Amino acid sequence: MNRKQFFSRLWREYLAVTPQAEKIMNLFLEHNQRVVNDHIALRTFDIAPIDITHLEPFILGIGYRPLESYEFPNKHLKARSYLGPDGDDPRIFISQLMTETLSKSNQQIVKGLCNQIKIEDADNIDIFTKGRLWEIPRWDQYNQLLEESEYAAWLSAMGLRANHFTISINHLDQTNTLKSANRLLKEAGFKLNTSGGEIKGSAETLLEQSSTMADKISIPFGDGNIHEISTCYYEFARRYKTTDGQLFQGFVASSADKIFESTNRT
Ligand code: NI
Repeated sequence: MNRKQFFSRLWREYLAVTPQAEKIMNLFLEHNQRVVNDHIALRTFDIAPIDITHLEPFILGIGYRPLESYEFPNKHLKARSYLGPDGDDPRIFISQLMTETLSKSNQQIVKGLCNQIKIEDADNIDIFTKGRLWEIPRWDQYNQLLEESEYAAWLSAMGLRANHFTISINHLDQTNTLKSANRLLKEAGFKLNTSGGEIKGSAETLLEQSSTMADKISIPFGDGNIHEISTCYYEFARRYKTTDGQLFQGFVASSADKIFESTNRT
């Protein structure tokens, strides 16, 4: 699967659980010639064969190169970013849950999920479009994860997929500030993530970001009961130039920390 096929498959799987995404894309297309993604974000556990060390070769295999590493100790996460070969390729941001930092009982739940992964599901980049590679946990297990890590709970139910796509505000001809993009979204009825303020970061940190709150779907859990959970959201990013005149390419950990909360229940 080449780069283009990968992103179109990722987008299709994302739309299937994120009805807001197509509406948001169309909203921005009404006001702009074209919409380009700044980055896409992937989530995983730090357990083989789906830890970043095992998944990174698939990302490099479609022409990407490593950019930076990040740590989010209060969210039990580490992350890496990658740059694509063409200017318009979305950056890839992948985070992984540091399972060993969870309580013993939550480690058991996560290991129980990862033990179910079939090795043939983990041998190419397709893995990022497959969703859950394990049976969905019971509702009580999901809630036990949720108490300690919203990320772990989300991943246990949603599996590997794009957690969000991110519209590049820099590429828009209208709505070319984050403030105007946010206004457009709110007027159309979309709910923004206000954790850390509607806009995370600033011109000084060289990256401003905002995001919607994730959509919700009702799905049956392992005990057979149906419950509503958060799926995925849309993010918006505006980049500024560094002192050498180049557009800032990286991510700002303190902002990303708040963006993770876009899948929180409230
Ligand atoms: Ni993001």
